[in-house]
Amino acid sequence: MRQWSDDYTIGIEGIDRQHRMIFTLAKDVEAALDEGRAAQEYGVLLHALAQYVRYHFGFEEQCMNLYHCPVAQQNQAAHATFTARLTEFQQRYAARGFEHVEACTLLAVIDEWLTNHICGIDVQLRASIQNAGGGATL
Ligand SMILES: [Fe+2]
Repeated sequence: MRQWSDDYTIGIEGIDRQHRMIFTLAKDVEAALDEGRAAQEYGVLLHALAQYVRYHFGFEEQCMNLYHCPVAQQNQAAHATFTARLTEFQQRYAARGFEHVEACTLLAVIDEWLTNHICGIDVQLRASIQNAGGGATL
């Protein structure tokens, strides 16, 4: 289910690498669940995922602003919504500790975001860079 493919490639090295890292972090959560380690590891994995996603969003938003991407505002709003959802997961974990259903819901939320957000919004950055005559080496 959670498999990187060319469908997710937007052609900007730095952002594609960051998106692949988010796939990897989600796979780490999935593996911890599958292998019975989640009760011990979920808190650390959730924190790492949330921190990395925030870093990635900041980087990507700078790229969109730099290249005057027409969906920059839409992207920023979507990022704010997703970040708030991750914060809610962190708050529930802090309040209640590990819950299996929470970890499964987190994976479903990330999967939905990886598919719909990357392929729907992020991919539009590629055209903006090409229009600006820039390379895809960010
Ligand atoms: Fe984005």
